[in-house]
Amino acid sequence: MRIWTKWAALAALMFGIGAPLSAETLMLASPDGRITVTVSDDAGFATYAVNYDGEGAIAPSRLGMLFAEHHGFERDLAITASARAAKDTAWEQPWGERRVVRDRHNELAVTFAATTGPARQITVRFRAFDSGIGFRYELAEQAALQGDIAIVEELTQFGVGEQTTMWYTPSDEFNRYEYVTRTGTAGQVDDAHTPATFRNPAGIHFAIHEAALVDYSAMSLGALRAGNFEARLRNWSGGPKVKTRAPFTSPWRTIQVARDAVGLINSNIILNLNDPNKLGDVSWVEPGKYIGIWWAMHIKERSWGRDGIHGATTAETKRYIDFAAQHGFSGVLVEGWNIGWDGDWFNNGDVFRFTEPMPDYDLAELGRYAQSKGVRLIGHHETSANITNYESQMEAAFDLMQSAGVRAVKTGYVADAGDVVRVDENGIRRYEWHDSQFMVGHHLRVVEAAAKRQIAINAHEPVKDTGLRRTYPNWMTREGARGMEFNAWGTPPNPPSHEAMLAFTRMLAGPMDFTPGIFDLRPNERPPVRADIPRGDPSNRPQTTLAKQLALYVVLYSPLQMAADLPENYEARMDAFQFIKDVEADWEESIALAGEVGEYVAIARQGRKSKEWFLGAVTDENARDLSVPLSFLDPGKQYRAQIYRDGAGAHWDTNPYAIVIEEKLVTGGEDFAVWLASSGGVAVRFIPVGE
Ligand code: NOJ
Repeated sequence: MRIWTKWAALAALMFGIGAPLSAETLMLASPDGRITVTVSDDAGFATYAVNYDGEGAIAPSRLGMLFAEHHGFERDLAITASARAAKDTAWEQPWGERRVVRDRHNELAVTFAATTGPARQITVRFRAFDSGIGFRYELAEQAALQGDIAIVEELTQFGVGEQTTMWYTPSDEFNRYEYVTRTGTAGQVDDAHTPATFRNPAGIHFAIHEAALVDYSAMSLGALRAGNFEARLRNWSGGPKVKTRAPFTSPWRTIQVARDAVGLINSNIILNLNDPNKLGDVSWVEPGKYIGIWWAMHIKERSWGRDGIHGATTAETKRYIDFAAQHGFSGVLVEGWNIGWDGDWFNNGDVFRFTEPMPDYDLAELGRYAQSKGVRLIGHHETSANITNYESQMEAAFDLMQSAGVRAVKTGYVADAGDVVRVDENGIRRYEWHDSQFMVGHHLRVVEAAAKRQIAINAHEPVKDTGLRRTYPNWMTREGARGMEFNAWGTPPNPPSHEAMLAFTRMLAGPMDFTPGIFDLRPNERPPVRADIPRGDPSNRPQTTLAKQLALYVVLYSPLQMAADLPENYEARMDAFQFIKDVEADWEESIALAGEVGEYVAIARQGRKSKEWFLGAVTDENARDLSVPLSFLDPGKQYRAQIYRDGAGAHWDTNPYAIVIEEKLVTGGEDFAVWLASSGGVAVRFIPVGE
């Protein structure tokens, strides 16, 4: 079968593939038939291609793998077997953006055997869903692949097309995943982290990522030729990319595909390609909203270390606990509570003590005090990426947290990319990457040690999310992109398009601890707390309106959702704060309604507890009239819509506080129209009338 005429001609030119007609070609279609995957062994190369509605999304692209000491799978390959399956089931998330997840896919497992050299074979398992495809390599135990295997190259390619628009962050620069998302033409991009999002000239949107990244290194996209990327695996320090043994399976390579941009957000394929919950009863994993002694450090109101304005004191923590209890927050994060923060903590990875509180921080008393008020402390383990130092204390550290009633710990790995410290078995310091196989393993060691103590993890400077929250439901959220903190000290701060960009890029991977809810939008214009501790550059500030800060609670999903500002800034605006008090952090259902990548997005979510619907929408620097159908509400039913929208003349730069808070009667099924200011937004709570 030859459906790839245009691409095949190009691929034949570029890689010498696609010519002989004697080759075996297999096809897999999604249940709705719109996505097709074509798998072939043309000219002895393993290839796949993806079509959407009969148009090309991924041109014929190579598959394969090379090893250091063993014969690999590159050329002289022939399809020798294939097997098909289909599935249509549903499973429940203990917490999540939706409770019930449908897993409907068709599967094709294709075995390629080497036709030269020692006998060996590799299977590529494809799954086609209505919203995208996944495939992974499966290597069975076999005579030619005995002993330790070092993967030196994964040959997976993604022919996205030279003229395809691409939204991405660079993969090999010092700040890990923390870059403003770039917009480019695929043919001009050298390297990119995933998820990377694309729109091709035919208007098809797709996003390349991976699922179930376990015991393997992370994949980024490296330009092979203009418009053709290869899977680049992060290497070990002085070693190969992946150390393994047969049998093994690779992570799934995923390609979400949709006509419209919002179709990417509404896809469940990343979760569906992960294994079910391995932890058993996880009723102790509790989604919720939290506050913290955190923003105060970032805006130099307080400090992590002991320099006279230490934030993590017993008295200050009690003040936060009281505020949390009064306003219905379940957690209080406290950073700077332990020994190691004094001085240059960025480079203090060797001296952090995770079982030794600072003298002015009474952990046991605070744990007791919090629980007496129906609140729990959220722990913090900043490792500054010295993994050996942390792992040697980790078990005792989680014991201590458990003894204080802690149910969630935020971990941190502040260090430049490639500077993660691993002291090897000979005592030699090695430097690894945040997305290396070593760190992939480390994060799971942390998650498992925490799970034993019924503690959830929120990792900062993490490895990217690949849906492992399904398998380990205590791995709740993470950072892994520019969060709110960049608006305190990042130069430049996050641009107005940032959140509308994240929704279609980073957020496709999973929840993010973005930490929304800043109400004092010019934090660096406050007078310094002490003359010798100046505030940051005043141009660093959230480039949003106040209404947009509220909308982020619906737009950017996190099961642990922070109200990041200082209590006194909320007390100054209790009317707007009411939305943060009302919004939930755990959802029965989520629906992306409208949007364009990096321009605007509107998302509706139904609270898991209250069953109330919420709507959030944000725009980039362009003000716009937004109209979305209230199709998620019961048709014909009336609701009281509590609306928090940009007021007349609102603008992120000149007039960010202009907000209108009003209640209106709306009817399910009708259109909801609202004006969004430059970098503005809207947040709405819908309460059924008569309930
Ligand atoms: C960077 C994290 O993203 C931030 O949230 C934290 O406050 C600092 N590291 C200190 O751990």
